[in-house]
Amino acid sequence: MESRTQVGIVGAGPAGLVLSHLLQREGIDCVVLEDRSREYVEKRVRAGVLEQGTVDLLTELGLADRLHREGLVHQGIELRFDGEGHRIPFEELAEGRAITIYGQQEVVKDLIAARLDAGGPLLFEVDDVSLDGIDTDEPTIRFKHEGVEKELHCDAIAGCDGFHGVCRPSVPDGVLSFNELEYPFAWLGILAEVAPSTDELIYAPHERGFALHSLRSPELSRLYVQCDPEDSLEDWPDERIWEELHVRLARDDGWTLKEGPLVEKGIAPLRSFVAQPMQYGRLYLAGDAVHIVPATGAKGLNLAVADVQVLGEALTKYLKGGDGSLLDAYSDACLRRVWRVQHFSWWMTWMLHRFPDDDGFQRGLRRAQLEYVCSSRAAAATLAENYVGLGRDW
Ligand code: FAD
Ligand code: DHB
Repeated sequence: MESRTQVGIVGAGPAGLVLSHLLQREGIDCVVLEDRSREYVEKRVRAGVLEQGTVDLLTELGLADRLHREGLVHQGIELRFDGEGHRIPFEELAEGRAITIYGQQEVVKDLIAARLDAGGPLLFEVDDVSLDGIDTDEPTIRFKHEGVEKELHCDAIAGCDGFHGVCRPSVPDGVLSFNELEYPFAWLGILAEVAPSTDELIYAPHERGFALHSLRSPELSRLYVQCDPEDSLEDWPDERIWEELHVRLARDDGWTLKEGPLVEKGIAPLRSFVAQPMQYGRLYLAGDAVHIVPATGAKGLNLAVADVQVLGEALTKYLKGGDGSLLDAYSDACLRRVWRVQHFSWWMTWMLHRFPDDDGFQRGLRRAQLEYVCSSRAAAATLAENYVGLGRDW
């Protein structure tokens, strides 16, 4: 069965869904295709930190009512080591900009509900997605839905299907260059039914490995421990996770970590990755489909949203006015920010983790950087302004 749309969007993560709303606002037709079920994507626990720019865009699109009701606005984070906390105050160092804690799956739920309410096509559980003719003016997406083979003819395709998707591998060999760094550790993340033991996020470097105390709501805590990338969940019974968290997050002043039943547990690798350019023919790649940052900087979701903000404007100019100049410049317009965020995420990861092959020199450098960030206003401001987001000029 054949059909037509202006923009075919592959993937209903934050990138694909935000793009669909940006296009819908401009009256541009698009179809979103997602290979998982609605229930699965709405339950997938991932990011939790939204930059000011992400919140502002969702607000402008009329998609942030629940976010403003339930999201937690934070004006700082704590770096904790050697039993002491050091606060990085955003209100002083980042011109009052803040972050909002609101789970990625809550953002995804809100965006899906609004899209379906507006009658926009969003198909779940599509199979066998493949792209054809991406170097022509009528690229096509082939897929199967409810047992029926379909062909969707488009003016452009947005590849928003994450790191393991099909869009990036559809670009012919030799076109993209790949830049990658794998880290010799992973994060074990848990969601626990217990009131957070902290008001602000705690990033804790420790000789046994990094730990992070984050949160989701007044009743739900989100915590991470650095682990070996080869570890499996069987290596980490609940008692071991709590024991490591107690040791790595310890503070000398009697602060204690509250424990609660775990409702989610998962291991995620840490990776830096950029494929460039971010476009080929009429295929435009956005978000995790084309770059990955290690989670330490809390940037992946925000970078995905920033990409599609640029792409939405460029597609609008092309499809409404026939002017393709912004589309041609899409990759260059994004890559400057992508590399800035890559650097920040790498730097935070380098500074805060224990690397298994560390020698005394590397340990000394890491320690010097950490102490500098905690004692110099200029160094702390660098962390703060990158963490809250440098704004859309980058
Ligand atoms: P995705 O969210 O991966 O969406 C891609 C979608 O495409 C998925 O729904 C997938 O099912 C679908 N798909 C895949 N293949 C196909 C196909 N063939 N056909 C159709 N659909 C397909 N980022 C932050 O900003 N802040 C944080 O605090 C943070 N913490 C994180 C913690 C963890 C543990 C992890 C794993 C990630 C974290 N991130 C964080 C990163 C963030 O979650 C991602 O960067 C973000 O999900 C990227 O959005 P996306 O839309 O590009 O990709
Ligand atoms: C969370 C995830 C991150 O990667 C991070 O740096 C901070 C917080 C979170 O899931 O809350």
